[in-house]
Amino acid sequence: MASGDSQPPQLYGPEFDADPAPAYHWLQQHSPVHRVEFAAGLSAWLVTRYADVHAALTDPRLAKDPARGCPFWRNSGMGLPLDHRPSLAQHMTNADPPRHQDLRRLASGMFSPQRLQRLEIRVQQVTDELLDRIAPHGQADIVNDVAYPLSTTIICELIGVPAEDRAELQRQAAVIDASDATDREDLLAATDAIDAYLADLHARKKAEPGDDLMSHMIQRQHRGAMTDDELTSTAFLILIAGHETTTALVGNSVLAALTHPELAARIRQDEAQLADFIEESLRRDCPVRNVSWRFPTEPMRLGGQDLMPGEPVLLSILAANRDAEQFTDPDTFRLDRNPEDHLAFGRGRHACLGAALARVQGATLLGALLRRFPDLALAEPVERLRWWPSPIIRALYALPVTW
Ligand code: HEM
Repeated sequence: MASGDSQPPQLYGPEFDADPAPAYHWLQQHSPVHRVEFAAGLSAWLVTRYADVHAALTDPRLAKDPARGCPFWRNSGMGLPLDHRPSLAQHMTNADPPRHQDLRRLASGMFSPQRLQRLEIRVQQVTDELLDRIAPHGQADIVNDVAYPLSTTIICELIGVPAEDRAELQRQAAVIDASDATDREDLLAATDAIDAYLADLHARKKAEPGDDLMSHMIQRQHRGAMTDDELTSTAFLILIAGHETTTALVGNSVLAALTHPELAARIRQDEAQLADFIEESLRRDCPVRNVSWRFPTEPMRLGGQDLMPGEPVLLSILAANRDAEQFTDPDTFRLDRNPEDHLAFGRGRHACLGAALARVQGATLLGALLRRFPDLALAEPVERLRWWPSPIIRALYALPVTW
């Protein structure tokens, strides 16, 4: 980080990606609601203190509907190119009350405790299959060989994507996941392909329903509860929101275990500590850096800064989770914190719908890895690992290990 005490830090580049905490600490002390510039000439407010981020997540004056963004933001091309694609953009994350609650309720049946129990069994099966596959090789890449296939299999099964369609859908979703590094044309082509695929799946599920999210929503649609566009948009949201985040959690938590062997040893002796380990990984290595854009609906003050209607606001939950005002020794990985405190799954009405499922995947995979491979070790020094330069996800490109 190229910063003295008075110079704002750089908020991009390999040094920042490898360890953003020093930059966030600087901002928390000197400029807690900081104006950041993006390549498109757009500026936005970046909020980094825990108290401000927490307050903003539950503040009804901060809207999520992109139509509430100022014209400059709407024309800047930030975010996914979904403006002319209502069949992918009409979902709960882009909605404010009262529509937000309706859309959320229509999908939330798939995340009930009973469903979760069934999903837990499936997560264990898929985990075992993936570990059986890598076991004979003595080496693997945890991110690409295990975490990504686990999270995409579970999310596709949840939505109702048949096994034979998954590879192509995942290929297109991967283009969107890498959207910061992706050519705009490729991104448009990928969103087009997913749009067409989900419309086709919708038609197929209408004719032949299954026990999955798509069929579950179609049933409710018969009662006029949601439009076709809202249905395909919700499936798209869950596809995108549910797999890269979970892949990041798995990669980050396995890295934490390998760099804290004393804590990994404690889990091996007592698996009851797995849950605390996953919560601390969610806090310290928060898989989502910034939650999606918000826009003030009226002039308001946040963290001592005046915000004008429509100005784009980014809430950094990764920074908030490292705020020394909230967490003692915030950069240290510790198992004795209050798991309720971190903001990794957001707060308020948009809080993560899939949090319980993500926790199950993180704990199942980390637990199984530590159990099956007692001598699991990093295959490369930590300094050589590469982090995504994404403003949204905090994730490793790859995590090579040996045993
Ligand atoms: C470790 C994994 C995950 C993390 C860290 C995570 C994080 C988050 C965060 C921070 C939000 C709030 C966004 C905001 O306020 O703007 C969110 C929303 C959401 N997440 Fe997750 N998520 C994870 C996994 C999942 C999974 C597995 C699913 C689905 C299967 C999912 C579905 C959703 C949905 C549908 C929303 C939108 C809720 C709304 O707008 O009402 N997430 N997630």
